[in-house]
Amino acid sequence: MSLSTKISRRLLLTGGATVATAPMLLHPEEGYAQTTLPLPADVFRLGVASGDPLPDAVVLWTRLAPEPLTGGGMPARNVPVEWEIAEDERFTRRRRTGVAPARPELAHSVHVDVRGLRPDTAYFYRFRTGGQISPVGRTRTAPSRAARPRALRFAFASCQDYQAGFYTAYQHLAAEDLAFVAFLGDYIYEGPRNASAARQHEGTGEPYTLEQYRNRHGQYKTDPDLQAAHAAFPWIVTFDDHEVDNNWADETPQDPALQTPEAFRARRIAAFQAYYEHMPLRRSSLPRRLDLQLYRRFRYGSLAGVHVLDTRQYRSDQPATLADAQHPALTMTGPQQEKWLVDGLQHSGTRWNVLANQVMWAQNDRQAGPGQTFDFDNWDGYRAQRRRLLEFFGSGRVDNPVVLTGDRHCTWVSDLRPDFDDVSSPIVGAEITGTSITSGGNANPASFHATYDPIMAESPHWRYIDNQRGYVVCDLSRTEMVSSLRLVDTVWAPTAAVRTEARFTVEAGRPGIADVFVAPAPPPAARPAGPTFDTQDDQGVLPPRR
Ligand SMILES: [Fe+2]
Repeated sequence: MSLSTKISRRLLLTGGATVATAPMLLHPEEGYAQTTLPLPADVFRLGVASGDPLPDAVVLWTRLAPEPLTGGGMPARNVPVEWEIAEDERFTRRRRTGVAPARPELAHSVHVDVRGLRPDTAYFYRFRTGGQISPVGRTRTAPSRAARPRALRFAFASCQDYQAGFYTAYQHLAAEDLAFVAFLGDYIYEGPRNASAARQHEGTGEPYTLEQYRNRHGQYKTDPDLQAAHAAFPWIVTFDDHEVDNNWADETPQDPALQTPEAFRARRIAAFQAYYEHMPLRRSSLPRRLDLQLYRRFRYGSLAGVHVLDTRQYRSDQPATLADAQHPALTMTGPQQEKWLVDGLQHSGTRWNVLANQVMWAQNDRQAGPGQTFDFDNWDGYRAQRRRLLEFFGSGRVDNPVVLTGDRHCTWVSDLRPDFDDVSSPIVGAEITGTSITSGGNANPASFHATYDPIMAESPHWRYIDNQRGYVVCDLSRTEMVSSLRLVDTVWAPTAAVRTEARFTVEAGRPGIADVFVAPAPPPAARPAGPTFDTQDDQGVLPPRR
């Protein structure tokens, strides 16, 4: 038995203690540091995170990686990591403690599924190993299933291309008062280093191997603003395409001519493993070969159900034409997930049903005039299934569905109808597509509106559009859901100001967007001048397909 194993066993005996008088974990000066092999400095360089909150449980995460851009820098052995969770920041009211192994086969990541917590309660947590102590994170459990909360506030975010800019939005998001953050995809981007971008990706090309994906995730996680946002709230994450490969669909890569099926499967396995290693996911999401269980549900008492979708892993390949997009066999979710979604929506028992979704549901024509141009990577390419689900929204069997969406690098607030081309088709729900953290870089609203305002005039289901950077804060009550668009004035400088640009109200019992409030425009001087950068935005170019 190794020394570290002895330590693990001994400390595990104290794990699960529930009272404040539980013995203190060993301090570094009490011998823990002397009984483990020395570790490199700065093992907690990637910070801490928590996620997937339940009424009695939350996942705590860290990864020991003193050299995150070059393989991690840890010795190739298991390292015991102490963890503790308390109801106060000074850790005097400690509630649970334990030791978890950081294993080299999972890049020395640690995922602790802490159980036995109190519902709807704030907690503080930290990790310790080899005489080093992590930053303190704050998290929060969900209310009990039977609870009837009067209010819930959370935020959602997506698309944080490191090269597109600084995470100024997260500086402000971290200061909000939130129950959780829903992240809707594009946590990393797989693109190669771009010397003309605001910041540069590590490496020399796109990641393909496990080590390359680890380095890319490691680089993103070094960002202090992202770390602060993780340390402030539990996150509920899902992925989109760029965590693996642009526009991948199940086992089909973006460019099948360049990646063999075998090579892409190996790439997907590597990308999934690195994703799990860097996210505060429960062990039920540990990848098994090609699969990673990511669609799942959360509940905030009787107020809100959060249905987290996975629209990449089980989808049919994108159609090539509008005629193909009508094919009834095309699926965005796969049949199993669709059944899970419909069952869950129908029996949620919650006032609101929030879908944490990746790509846009609302029809998104990109051409003014009689012609239409669609991006078939979003639900516009999977029309039969979309119509089936939207008719279900309108069937009276699901209470107040609201779809929250990433991917588009714009804010796009829409009424949802089973048939978007027919104004007599009933409004059955609302979609709030929420900007991006950085992707797209600093926007040019004038050229955006010059392109899209004429199309908006032909798209009555669009209620608000904008192309600037930020995130969305959602306030739910029994009677309404108010979503506030929070915009930063730049992502091309390390700090920025934030403002509430607009608010979108959905009323319970009345499908669609009830009200759009737009704040008065800030004075031009409030928008800082500065250098401009290349963004290589995959949403910036109209797709050639019709
Ligand atoms: Fe994106």
